[in-house]
Amino acid sequence: MDALVAEKPFDPIATRSEPPVKTGFLSVVGVGIKLAAQTSLEAKAHIEAADRVFYLVTDPGTEYWLTSLNPAAQSLQSFYEDRSSRLATYLDITEYILEHVRQGLHVCAVFYGHPGIFVFPSHRAVARARQEGFDAVMLPGISAEDCLFADLGVDPARKGCQSFEATDFLIFDRTFDPRNNLVLWQVGVLGEVGYKISLSQEKLEVLKEKLLKAYPADHPLTVYEAARYPVCDPTMLRTTIGELDASMISTISTLFIPPVAQRKPDLDIAKRLGIPEDFIKRRFELSDEEIERLGLD
Ligand SMILES: C[S@@+](CC[C@H](N)C(=O)[O-])C[C@H]1O[C@@H](n2cnc3c(N)ncnc32)[C@H](O)[C@@H]1O
Repeated sequence: MDALVAEKPFDPIATRSEPPVKTGFLSVVGVGIKLAAQTSLEAKAHIEAADRVFYLVTDPGTEYWLTSLNPAAQSLQSFYEDRSSRLATYLDITEYILEHVRQGLHVCAVFYGHPGIFVFPSHRAVARARQEGFDAVMLPGISAEDCLFADLGVDPARKGCQSFEATDFLIFDRTFDPRNNLVLWQVGVLGEVGYKISLSQEKLEVLKEKLLKAYPADHPLTVYEAARYPVCDPTMLRTTIGELDASMISTISTLFIPPVAQRKPDLDIAKRLGIPEDFIKRRFELSDEEIERLGLD
C-alpha cells in the first residue's frame, strides 16, 4: 500500500506526449464479452504481433482462441491462487507485466470486455510503463455495459446514465439521480475483498435499502448477463427492486434500473439557451410512449 501512496499522480495525457526513451512496448487490449466476436481488428493485430501475451479472461474458449492467435499467450490466473487480497494480486500482475516490458519486449496484456473498465492492473500497467519511459497504449474493447445498451435497447444519452461499482456505490454513499438510468456492476461480489464468490442475501439487503430510498419497491430492475458465446442469448431477468434476491445474481451479473419518471425540463434554463418553447414541449413534456408514437425521439 505504501508504494501506492508514494507514487506521483499519473497524468495519462502528459505521459503520452513524452516520447518513449526505451524499446519495450506495452499494449493493453480488450477482447469484448463474446468469444472471438467482439475484438477490434487493431486489438487482434496487437495480440498476434506481441512477443508475450498475458491474459485474464473468463472462459476457456477465449483462452484457446488467444493461444491460436499467439502461441506465447499465458494466463495470469495463477496470481489469484492462495491469495486473500485482491489488491496484492493486482499489484503483482502489474509488476509481472512490466518485468517483461523492461526486457525490451512487445507485451500485450489482454482483458475481457473493455480493458479499462473495472480492471485495476490495466491502467496501472500503462501508467507505470510510461513513467518508466516505455511506449504504452490501451485499446478499447466492448464492455458488458455496451452489450447491455444493445440488448436492453437503452440509449444512455437519452435520459442520462449513471454507472457504479456496487460496493463503492454503498460505501461512499454515491449520489445518483433516479430520473436517470442506473447501472450497477459487480453486485455478485458485493462487499467482497477476497475471492468469495457467493453473494449473501444479507449483503444484498444493504443495497436494496439504499435503492428503496429512491425507488418504489415495485420499480423494475433487470439482472443482465451478456452472452459470452456466439451461439448463446443474453440473460435478462426482469424483476423489481423489492423482489430482487441473491439467488438471481451471479459473478457476471450487472444490474440495470430504468428511470423513475420522465424528466421535467427547466424552462428558464431552456429559454436562456435559446431553445424554442414548443420544441421543449414536444421533446420533454410528452410521455415516452407519445414521443415514440410520434417518432420525435
Ligand atoms: C471486473 S468487472 C470487468 C468488466 C469488464 N472489463 C468489462 O469491460 O465489461 C466484472 C463485472 O463486469 C460485469 N460483467 C462481466 N461479464 C459480464 C457479462 N457477461 N454480462 C453482464 N455483465 C458482465 C459484471 O458486473 C461483473 O461483476
